[in-house]
Amino acid sequence: MKPSYETNYRRSLMEPEAFWAEAAEAVHWDRKWNRVLNASKGPFFQWFQGGMLNTCYNALDVHVKNGRAEQAALIYDSPVSGVVRRMTYQELQDEVSRFAGSLRALGLEKGDRLIIYMPMIPEAAIAMLACARIGVVHSVVFGGFASQELAIRIDDARPKAIVTASCGIEVQQVIPYKPLLDAAIDLAEHKPEVCVVYQRPQARASLKPGRDRDWEELMEAAKPVDCLPLEATDPLYILYTSGTTGKPKGVVRDNAGHAVALRWSLEHVYDVLPGDVFWAASDIGWAVGHSYTVYGPLLHGCTSVLYQGKPVGTPDPGAFWRVIAQHGVKVLFTAPTAFRAIKKEDPGGEYLKEFDVSCLQYLFLAGERLDPDTYHWARRLLGIPVIDHWWQTESGWPMAANCMGLTPHAFKAGSASKPVPGYDIQVLDSDGQVLGPHEEGLIAVKLPLPPGCLPTLWNDDQRYLDSYLSRFPGYYFTADGGRKDEEGYLYVMGRVDDVINVAGHRFSTGRMEEVVASHPDVAECAVVGAQDPLKGQVPLGLVVLKAGVERGWKEIEREIIQRVRAEIGAVASLKRVSLVKRLPKTRSGKILRRTIRDIADGRDYSIPSTIDDPEIPREIGLALKESGLG
Ligand code: COA
Ligand code: AMP
Repeated sequence: MKPSYETNYRRSLMEPEAFWAEAAEAVHWDRKWNRVLNASKGPFFQWFQGGMLNTCYNALDVHVKNGRAEQAALIYDSPVSGVVRRMTYQELQDEVSRFAGSLRALGLEKGDRLIIYMPMIPEAAIAMLACARIGVVHSVVFGGFASQELAIRIDDARPKAIVTASCGIEVQQVIPYKPLLDAAIDLAEHKPEVCVVYQRPQARASLKPGRDRDWEELMEAAKPVDCLPLEATDPLYILYTSGTTGKPKGVVRDNAGHAVALRWSLEHVYDVLPGDVFWAASDIGWAVGHSYTVYGPLLHGCTSVLYQGKPVGTPDPGAFWRVIAQHGVKVLFTAPTAFRAIKKEDPGGEYLKEFDVSCLQYLFLAGERLDPDTYHWARRLLGIPVIDHWWQTESGWPMAANCMGLTPHAFKAGSASKPVPGYDIQVLDSDGQVLGPHEEGLIAVKLPLPPGCLPTLWNDDQRYLDSYLSRFPGYYFTADGGRKDEEGYLYVMGRVDDVINVAGHRFSTGRMEEVVASHPDVAECAVVGAQDPLKGQVPLGLVVLKAGVERGWKEIEREIIQRVRAEIGAVASLKRVSLVKRLPKTRSGKILRRTIRDIADGRDYSIPSTIDDPEIPREIGLALKESGLG
C-alpha cells in the first residue's frame, strides 16, 4: 500500500517542521540542524539552519560507501556523436573528486562562483558536482545562449572561473563554443581569472595562454579532494532564468533544502527506488536538467541518463524508444513539445513497434501546458500513466503533480493534478482574495515555501521581494494564471507576465524587445508569445519603422531575426516579425500585448476601453494576415 496523499499533504501544511525533519533523515548530515525552519528572518525563511552537509557527498560518496560503487550513476547517450558511455558511481566519484582537486589547485575556494557553459556531456555534470564538493557556487548557462546572454550572466555572478567545451553538436552541426565564450568575456565587465576547456574531437579550440587551461591536462595532474561540509543554507548554485525585464533572475538554491526536497520527490512524486533508471530529457542548462538529470537521481542512488540528442532527427522519431529500451528506463521526464514533435513525425507510433519499452512505468511531462490532445495520444501510445506536473525554475521541484509514490488521484486531462505536499496553492483575484472552484485567477503559494525552493535571488534580496512576495503579502506569486476545480485539481493556463514558453524553454519578451529595438531602423516594437502547434508558443515581433526608412522590409526583417539569434541565441526561435504602422497602446502609452496576442492567435478580442485608437487592432490584424502570420 502506498502512503496516503491526503495524510501527507495535510501533515506537510499542519506540521511542516515534523514533516520535513522526517524527510531529512534520508540525507547524510555532517551535523544535524538546530532548527528545521527558521522563520525569524521571514519572508527570508531558512530550512535546516545550523545543519551541515555536502550535496556531492550525498550524491556520490554515500552510495559508493553503501554498496553502489559498481552501479551506473550516469549513462551518457549521445546519438549526435555516436557515443554511449556508462559511468559507475565509483568512476564518477573519482572524476569529480579529481576535478574538484583541479579547481582547488586553480585557487577556487568555498563561496567563489564558477560558470559552466557546456553542451550535454558528462563533463558538465562532473563540473557541477565538483563545485558542490568544495562549496564553489556553480552557475550553468545553457549552451544555446549567445555571447551577450552569457556576458550578462558573467557580470551578475562574477565568476572566478568558467568551464567550457570546445564545441556542442546540434543534430549534424558542430557549434564551436570557445569563440562564443571569448566574445562573452570581451563583452563582460567582469573578467574570470581562468577558463577550463574540455576539448572534444569534433572541433578543437585554441587556448589563450595565461588564462585558458586544458581539462585533460588539469585532470592528469589533479589530486582528488574530499567533500567539504557546508552550512545547510550555503548556496549550491545560481541558475539564471528569464524575468520580465532584460536582466535575468539569478535563482539561488541552497544545499540542505535542495537535497531533502529532491530525495523526497524522487520517491514520492516519481515513485522510483535507488537503482532504478531515471531519464529527464532536458538540457542541464535548465532547471529540469539540474534537478532531475544531475542532482535528484544521484541523491537517490538511481542511474541517470544524460542524453545529447533530440526527440526527432537523431536519427528519427524512434530515438526516445531506443534509449528507453537500451538502458531500461523506468521513468521518462520531458516536455510536451518533445511528444508533439514525435507525434508530428510518427502519428501512428510505428517506430515504437521496433522496441521493447515494457520497462517504462511512467511518463512525466512539464515545462509548459500539456494540451489534452498530446496527453491522450501519449497515453494511448504507451499505455502507462502520463503525468502532467507543474513547476518553475524558482521552485526547483514540482509544485503540483499526481504523486505516484503516494496514493494517486484520478487523471484529468488538462490538469497538473493537485498540490504536492509542502505547497499550499491558492488561486487569487487581483486583490488577493481566494477564488472558488472554476474561477480563473492568479496562482500563488502560501509562505513559507517548502525546502528546495529559492531562498532569494543572487545578490538581490529586493528583487526577490518585489518579483515574488510583494504582490500578495504572505504568498509567493508564481506569475502563472489558472483555476482549481471543485476537487482541488489545478489547471495552469500560462504566464500572466511577459515571460513566454517556447518548446518548454522560458524567455523574456522584454529582452527580445530590447534586441529588436536596438536595430537602427526600428522606431518601436512589441514581442508577444503566439500559439504554435509544435512549440506551444513562439515569439512574434511587431515593428514600427522610423520615418524615412526606405530599405526593403524583407531585408530589415532578416537583420532583426539575425540580431536576436546573435544576441540571445537561435533557441529563442524568433522567426516571425511583422511590419505595422502603429502599436495598440493605452492612452498612457502602455502597449496592449494581450490584444496583440489575441489577434495573432485568431481569438475574439474586445477593444479595450483604455485604447488610444480603436482602429489599431484592425490594422494589426490586416498586417499580420498580409505577412501570413495572423
Ligand atoms: N546550442 C546551440 N543551438 C541550439 C541549442 C544548443 N544547445 N539548442 C537549440 N539550438 C538551436 C537549434 O539548432 C535551432 O536552431 P535553428 O533555428 O537554426 O534550426 C534553434 O536553436 C531552436 O531549437 P529547438 O527549440 O531545439 O527547436 P528545433 O526546431 O531544433 O527542435 C524540438 C524542436 C521540439 C525537437 C525541440 O524543441 C525539443 O527537443 N524540445 C524538447 C523540449 C525540451 O527539452 N525542453 C526542456 C525543458 S523540460
Ligand atoms: P521554467 O522556469 O523554465 O521551468 O518555466 C516555468 C513555467 O513553465 C511556469 O511558470 C509555467 O508557466 C510553465 N509550466 C511548467 N510546467 C507546466 C505545466 N505542467 N503546465 C502548465 N505550465 C507549465
